[in-house]
Amino acid sequence: IERTLVLVKPDGVRRGLTGEVLRRIEAKGYRFVALELREATADLLADHYAEHAGKPFYDALVEFMLSGPVAAMVLEGERCIEGFRSLAGATDPTVAAPGTIRGDLGRDWGGSVQQNIVHGSDSPESAAREIKIWFAALDA
Ligand code: GTP
Ligand code: MG
Repeated sequence: IERTLVLVKPDGVRRGLTGEVLRRIEAKGYRFVALELREATADLLADHYAEHAGKPFYDALVEFMLSGPVAAMVLEGERCIEGFRSLAGATDPTVAAPGTIRGDLGRDWGGSVQQNIVHGSDSPESAAREIKIWFAALDA
């Protein structure tokens, strides 16, 4: 059975959307293996976003992710990596499909696509890596 790392990003927590995101995950049928309100650190984010280091939006992204607490969780269920990405919708909330978390609850607030409410691991390799970063004591 697969596991994936999901974050409700600072914009989602600030806007009071944590419960709505959790509700959609539970309604979909995935199980919570871990769930915690966390403050990210610069070190943790450097690991988490290593693939984006050097990109033009990187510094703004890290600053945004440090702007408030995140709700970090590990989900479990068959094909939950793909399944949660599908629940989340496209990266850009302006054009994410209605019915998705980003499409229903997100929009452009002036930071382009940055404030898009949630993160979900994009592959089994990313999931294993990210679960280790956020929940060192857990098995991926
Ligand atoms: P995550 O699940 O958060 O990883 O989103 P994603 O996989 O759909 O997007 P990606 O990994 O490509 O980018 C990570 C995050 O960086 C996005 O979710 C956005 O918050 C932010 N981001 C991506 N591209 C841009 C961009 O062009 N400009 C800005 N400002 N932020 C971006
Ligand atoms: Mg990504």
